[in-house]
Amino acid sequence: MLPASLSSLHSTNVRTSPYLSPLSSSSSLPSPSPSLSLAPSFSHLHHRRLVSFNTVRGNNPLATKAERRGLSVTCASTCEPLKVMISGAPASGKGTQCELIVQKFGLVHISTGDLLRAEVSAGSEIGNKAKEFMNAGQLVPDEIVTAMVTARLSHEDAKTKGWLLDGYPRSFAQAQSLENLKIRPDVYVVLDVPDEILIDRCVGRRLDPETGKIYHLTNFPPETEEIKARLVTRPDDTEEKVKSRLEIYKQNAKAILSTYSNITKKIDGNRPKEMVFADIESLLSQAKREKMKKTTAVKPVHERKSRSNQVSSSQDNWKGIPTRLNNIPHSREIRNYFYDDVLQATQRAVNDGRTRLKVEINIPELNPEMDVYRIGTLMELVRVIALSFADDGKRVKVCVQGSMGEGALAGMPLQLAGTRKILEFMDWGDYGAKGTFVEIGSIGANEVDEQDDMFILVAPQNAVGNCIIDDMKAMTDAAGTRPVILINPRLKDLPGSSGIMQTMGRDKRLEYAASFENCYFFRLLYYAGTQYPIMGALRMTYPNGYELYKRVDVPSGGEKYVILSTFTEKPSSDDINDAFLGKPRQRERCAPPPTRSKS
Ligand code: AP5
Repeated sequence: MLPASLSSLHSTNVRTSPYLSPLSSSSSLPSPSPSLSLAPSFSHLHHRRLVSFNTVRGNNPLATKAERRGLSVTCASTCEPLKVMISGAPASGKGTQCELIVQKFGLVHISTGDLLRAEVSAGSEIGNKAKEFMNAGQLVPDEIVTAMVTARLSHEDAKTKGWLLDGYPRSFAQAQSLENLKIRPDVYVVLDVPDEILIDRCVGRRLDPETGKIYHLTNFPPETEEIKARLVTRPDDTEEKVKSRLEIYKQNAKAILSTYSNITKKIDGNRPKEMVFADIESLLSQAKREKMKKTTAVKPVHERKSRSNQVSSSQDNWKGIPTRLNNIPHSREIRNYFYDDVLQATQRAVNDGRTRLKVEINIPELNPEMDVYRIGTLMELVRVIALSFADDGKRVKVCVQGSMGEGALAGMPLQLAGTRKILEFMDWGDYGAKGTFVEIGSIGANEVDEQDDMFILVAPQNAVGNCIIDDMKAMTDAAGTRPVILINPRLKDLPGSSGIMQTMGRDKRLEYAASFENCYFFRLLYYAGTQYPIMGALRMTYPNGYELYKRVDVPSGGEKYVILSTFTEKPSSDDINDAFLGKPRQRERCAPPPTRSKS
């Protein structure tokens, strides 16, 4: 039986603090009663999933980076770094390109030639063994090189930053050793240079023993006389030895290629090094994006559910809307369901050319009124959306409003305090999405740069006495036809610090706030003044209408959501209550009775 007045059904997001505005102006659900809301406490940020937040250490967690910042965001194990092999004949330019790749992608460069030369100059046992083979232009025995490479690959830096393997494998046996260890690159780059060019490059090559920089007497002469004076020639760079090395390379190349045929990318290395690098750069950027897509993509719910081992046994087997939504923190499956739901709806809307969009998602842990407000969930949601668009080649600017007001009134809505820092410290993947395809900015016209393709505004909100709408308006004007997506905006007018409602320009502000259309909406429904039990949910995903669900207990002790009604427009509280009571809709009730035909 339904209790008391159904008109008292309301959403989770029903109360407000002095810092947070209540429901967005577009909400048609009953107005909140004032009460304290909880500010996000950083000590809540300790869960781990796609992005994980370590617990805060120290009093000022955001004061410095690394040791003192206390807020460290690390990539989850799913976020695999890039792994690259570069191959090519002697002097094809591997070392030269590796310098540039490392600069751009930050991979750990592992060159067997360099490792061996270091052993030789250190006079180690390995070095002494390797020296005679190297000086003769022969390959060093596999067991020496393989042990060296696998040891280096197991270092922490290579595991976390990714690696660039140069000069290995150089034989079929070496390739097989890696395969047996399940060490496989994402891309196998082969530099292709005609033989006659190679010999000239080797003979003219000089190395700077101080910086390790590679020069060529005519192609890349040293910058100063001082550098020139200290350059050395490699003992294996005589014409005769180069010919022998080239021969050995050719004998092995085909066999190695067969191991990596599906990931091999041949690049013309007989061009200026910048041009060669431009090709490599775009190749690796593409590989990086593909990896990010794989590691950050939120799997559709049905796929996740099909892997029963991924679903905690303590969870209900929900379909559609997740159950146990009053349990905070939400499980990873629940969060992923919502990230996925929001992402798909947003993508559909943007692909349809919609440019002023808003996402309103009020699951309990994104509701400032609940005991635990997880800013990490909001950040993850933003990250999923931003990376997904970035993955499609769009340059996304993620914007958080800065401090508002002046003097004693200066401040920032509690919900957003520290958000910008979190976004900056957050792990945006190991492949450099942040700073390239994803930028962090504030709200305002100045933030709109020519290269930006779209903007995500994180929970823009008015504060007492301060209205964010003017900055937003200037920003959207500057953005023109580029999409601007608001995530959980709170744009309702708030009273000034004197308690007096600002009336000047109110209509314009409300009109502006209403110009953003929902591409996603989710809200739980409760009876007024309560947050338990959940009565139902209202959900909308672009381009579909609003779906009203009722939560029902099932005999087995679980719960489920059954659809009660659908609406093309956002339903009013009366519509919702009528649907719960099984009454016909307001419009149907008010409609004149059908006229009978005269016949
Ligand atoms: P290693 O050092 O790996 O030699 P390599 O493979 O023969 O390659 P190089 O270092 O000679 O040339 P590179 O392709 O790096 O070209 P670079 O950029 O310097 O190995 C040395 C030895 O170690 C082997 O012979 C072997 O004995 C042993 N070894 C190593 N790995 C082994 C393994 N896995 N198993 C067994 N033994 C192993 O460029 C060359 C020159 O060209 C430079 O002067 C440069 O300035 C110039 N240049 C570069 N790019 C361009 C360009 N685009 N245009 C014009 N000039 C250019």
